[in-house]
Amino acid sequence: MRTPLIAANWKMNGTGDVLSALGRGIASAAEPLTAVQTILFAPHPYLARVAADVRGLRVEVGAQDVAAEAPGAFTGEVAAEMLVDVGCRWTLVGHSERRTLYGDVDERVAVKVGRALGCGLKVMLCVGETLEEREAGRTAEVVLRQLDAVVDACGVQALVDGAVAYEPVWAIGTGLTATPEQAAEMHAFIRDELTKLGLTDLPILYGGSVKPGNAKDLMTQPHVDGVLVGGASLKLDSLRAID
Ligand code: PGA
Repeated sequence: MRTPLIAANWKMNGTGDVLSALGRGIASAAEPLTAVQTILFAPHPYLARVAADVRGLRVEVGAQDVAAEAPGAFTGEVAAEMLVDVGCRWTLVGHSERRTLYGDVDERVAVKVGRALGCGLKVMLCVGETLEEREAGRTAEVVLRQLDAVVDACGVQALVDGAVAYEPVWAIGTGLTATPEQAAEMHAFIRDELTKLGLTDLPILYGGSVKPGNAKDLMTQPHVDGVLVGGASLKLDSLRAID
């Protein structure tokens, strides 16, 4: 039985005070629920503060992205070493917003995964198809390509301690959620592919407009081991209701 994972992706929202209070609220709610693991993906400037807030509690902190490069002359970038230094245990890699808006093509995603792992960060690898790709019947092909890019470059080991988040791009921030059946179908497909690689226990999270009203239906599907929550993770009551 995999431990259910609830991951909050705060994206570029909040202030230090707001996110600190949210993090502490989530951590105190998570504490008695030993069966659930919570990860808070905070904006870079607040990582250290949120990590200090939840230290010793059943909550881990992660970055939303990591540089592909080692420390050096890369203005504006944040190296994996720095993330570890401020208390991160995780990083998202390959979120669709990074892929679409910031040029994180498969090869770059794989380099980032390699850097994160080399520094001891656990990786939550985000995969998912666009609406056009789904409508063209290419969903499985796209997701497999995104997984393979990382496994080919970094080896199966790259994912062992991490997680995969299946996030259909058309469902992110749009209010459109994959139906439980659509999520179940893709999670079963990803589970099969991971099993072929020997990664039978890797958690697979669903993401894309998850909210209290749909979380239970999604999380009770086979092979849905948790959820990656964007908008609804910015309200303590919503996130608690998803637990
Ligand atoms: P959303 O975001 O829940 O606001 O759709 C999810 C994500 O981008 O991880």
